[in-house]
This record gives sequence, structure tokens and C-alpha cells, in this order.
Amino acid sequence: MTDAHLGGRYTFPGTSLSVRRIGYGAMQLAGPGVWGPPKDPDGAVALRREAVASGVDHIDTSDFYGPHITNQIIRRALHPYPAGLVIVSKLGCRRPPDRSWQLAITPAELTSGVHDNLRNLGLETLDIVNYRAMGSGHGPQEGSIAEQVGVLADLKRQGLIRHIGLSNVTAAQIAEAQAITAIVCVQNLYNVVHRHDDALVEALARQGIAYVPFFPLGGFTPLQSSTLSSVATRLGATPMQIALAWLLQRSRSILLIPGTASLAHVRENLAVGRLNLPQDIVGELDRIAASAGAGAH
Ligand SMILES: NC(=O)c1ccc[n+]([C@@H]2O[C@H](COP(=O)([O-])OP(=O)(O)OC[C@H]3O[C@@H](n4cnc5c(N)ncnc54)[C@H](OP(=O)(O)O)[C@@H]3O)[C@@H](O)[C@H]2O)c1
Repeated sequence: MTDAHLGGRYTFPGTSLSVRRIGYGAMQLAGPGVWGPPKDPDGAVALRREAVASGVDHIDTSDFYGPHITNQIIRRALHPYPAGLVIVSKLGCRRPPDRSWQLAITPAELTSGVHDNLRNLGLETLDIVNYRAMGSGHGPQEGSIAEQVGVLADLKRQGLIRHIGLSNVTAAQIAEAQAITAIVCVQNLYNVVHRHDDALVEALARQGIAYVPFFPLGGFTPLQSSTLSSVATRLGATPMQIALAWLLQRSRSILLIPGTASLAHVRENLAVGRLNLPQDIVGELDRIAASAGAGAH
């Protein structure tokens, strides 16, 4: 597929890293609950190879998915990595044997997290690492992230990380981090139903910083909306394709990382770049969040 078919290209600000706007989120490649190996490891490898062969050059991952498993599948499928493939990882969490998600934000934990990623991905340098602030649930919470961003900036100076991003953060936390180091992307929860970050999407676009929504399809509770279904029927697409197409058209700075363990869904998601939503349909989709109520908007 060409650049145009995958949403066009986007260059992370101040970097030589350029990716197609439709990428792939790797979290779903671990087993249930993002723990352990998937049911079909060979299928997971094949899926990853087909996505990249189809033009995907942006993969979002973390060593705490599995843990380690997702990165090991990426390595098995794609190493030695093709030129131009950008792998983005994240730090800030660990998975103890009870399968819970715990903070891992001390300098020692962040540093060992980088080394875990390097080892399991088979890399000497990570292209982009997001510091994932824990916040509350899947939403950000105000509070200083300076110490953690400072550690990542040190790891960047040591050559272990090329560029730094943030996840699950507020505008104030982004500004705080930018006083320490350059921030090339922000990964927060955002989709056609959950639009708390509308203003942030605009603000980051003005700075050329990539906005990479996590849960673009609703995550563990996939989006359901009669409007999505009705628009999909009229345009001959699926509701999930419409949700992704809405994000692509929402801002040129938005990059997609939908997650799936299904090859059929990978193909559907890559085909979204060919969808063009007319303005009246965009208006209809914009009303979903408003009608979903204050909790969603
Ligand atoms: N920074 C963070 O805190 C954070 C948090 C969560 C996720 N992430 C990143 O964001 C990526 C995306 O998030 P996500 O995977 O959790 O959620 P998502 O992309 O919103 O949704 C994934 C769900 O949608 C389904 N799906 C995918 N494509 C579909 C299609 N075409 N039709 C129907 N169903 C489809 C998947 O099921 P099937 O497997 O059946 O297709 C899966 O259940 C992750 O992979 C991860 O890299 C980051």
C-alpha cells in the first residue's frame, strides 16, 4: 500500500522519524488480560509480518505487555527490522506475578525498563519511549512528572533512547516535561466517544507533536453506537472502520495504533485510509460524544 492508502505520512517533530499514519498497537498480541503468550504464537508472528508487509511502519508496544511476550513476538516476526520501521515503547509500569499493573517509576525501574525493551526487542537504541504516567484509571491526574522525564532525558543522553513521548498526561504535565526535554508524541485515551482531550489535540497539533490515541476503538470495551453502525451501513464500511476514519480526519497530527489479534481486522483497519468521510457525516459522528453524556466528553 502507498502512503496515501495508509493515511499519509507524519514526521515526529525535530526528528528524522517519519511514519504512515495508520500503524499498529501490539498490546492485544499477548494472552488474555495482556498476560502470558497468545493462544496462537505462530499466528501472532504471521499477523505482524503481514501488517509490516502491507506498509505499517509504526508499532506501539511495551515490555510490560505479557510481560516481555509482546516484544519477543515483535522480535521473532521482524528482526532484523526493515529500514524505516519505528517501534515506540513505554515505561512506567510493571506486572508482578499476581498480574496486577503496578507503578515502576523510580530511576532504577525506568532504567531497567529500557534495558528490558532493548533486550527483548533486540535493539541497541529505542526510537521513541513514552513515559506513561499512572494517573487514575485510564485518565491522567495532575502531579509532577519531572523526576521521571529527567531520567528518560538522561537515558537519551546515554544513547539508549532517541526520542521521548508521554502517555496519560495533562497539558500542564506536557509543559513541565517540555522544559526538560523535547516531547515528540503524546498517547492518551481518545476516540469518537471519549473526547476529553479535544482541546489538547488542537494544542499539540499547533506544536506539530503527534497525538496517538490509545483505545481508538474503545479498548477492552469496544465502542458501540447506533450512529457508527448507521454511518457504516451507508458508506459500505464497518463501525470500527468509521471510528478510525473519524480519528484520521480529526487532525493531521493524529496517528492510529488500533490493536487486534485478528488478521481480518488488521486488513480492515489498514483499509481505513481509503475511506473519506463527507463533512455532514463528520458532523453526525461529532454528535456521538455529546449524546453519550458528560462522562464521555
Ligand atoms: N499508553 C497507554 O496507557 C495505553 C493503554 C492501552 C493501550 N495502549 C496502546 O494502544 C493500542 C490500542 O489500544 P487497544 O488495543 O487496547 O484498544 P483498541 O485498539 O481501541 O481496541 C482493541 C479491540 O478492538 C478490537 N478490534 C480491532 N480492530 C477491529 C476491527 N476492525 N473490527 C472489530 N474489532 C476490532 C480488538 O479485538 P480483535 O483482537 O478481535 O480484533 C480489540 O478487542 C494498544 O495495542 C497499545 O499499544 C496504550
